[in-house]
Amino acid sequence: MIKVENVQYAYHTGTEALRDVSVAFPRGTISAVLGESGSGKTTLLMLLGQFLRPDAGRITLDNRDIYEIPEPEYRRALGIVFQNLYLFPHMTVLENMTLAPVKVLGADKVGTEDDARAMLDRLGIGEIADSYPSQISGGQGQRAAIARGLMLQPEYMLLDEPTSALDANTTDEFAAWLRELSDQTNFIIVTHDVLFADKAAHQGVYLSDGQVLDTGTIDTIIQHVRSGRLVEVDG
Ligand SMILES: Nc1ncnc2c1ncn2[C@@H]1O[C@H](COP(=O)(O)OP(=O)(O)OP(=O)(O)O)[C@@H](O)[C@H]1O
Ligand SMILES: [Mg+2]
Repeated sequence: MIKVENVQYAYHTGTEALRDVSVAFPRGTISAVLGESGSGKTTLLMLLGQFLRPDAGRITLDNRDIYEIPEPEYRRALGIVFQNLYLFPHMTVLENMTLAPVKVLGADKVGTEDDARAMLDRLGIGEIADSYPSQISGGQGQRAAIARGLMLQPEYMLLDEPTSALDANTTDEFAAWLRELSDQTNFIIVTHDVLFADKAAHQGVYLSDGQVLDTGTIDTIIQHVRSGRLVEVDG
């Protein structure tokens, strides 16, 4: 389980992006991080990914402070796909996907390519394996970037706005696919898309102005959003 306890973070400009945030991301659940623009969602992902360090509070993975876990071990445990962070343009989708497992982990090249093709098939984009990023659509690229992250089989996978380039049908398929994968990987998904969160996630946290306004099952959070208890987000 990942636990965030009383975390504060201010940017050097003075913006208090997170103010006393506490939230748990248990195993076996897909969690959605909801909240209006500027509420601190991406900042929370950056802290979980150790790209930023909390000013106060702590973050633990299975009761170990994440800064006490050796970096290579932590990088393997937790993968992140950022908003708009796509693929290396000079490599095919397949080459993008096999690069880290083969070069970093020393995995067998042929076996890894088979795994990558199977992953793309599962995502419904098997036909783009040998295409270059400039030859595929935004939605396909987004799914391929997530597939690339999953090749390292992280325990936790953080996704920032993964549906921003997907149409409604593809978003539904994507939600179903995340559910299928959730027995192996624990997803933490930052999203503006309440309908998607409803389909994909089990639990949620709602941020507002750097603070946790609500946590609980995704059903209760969405009820609160719809009843106007939380501010409806556009998207
Ligand atoms: N690099 C930065 N330097 C200074 N302030 C920043 C920086 N990045 C974000 N902020 C500020 O911190 C606050 C939280 O930003 P953050 O990006 O975490 O929000 P968000 O919830 O991800 O928003 P969005 O939905 O628009 O992506 C905002 O007030 C934002 O302006
Ligand atoms: Mg953001």
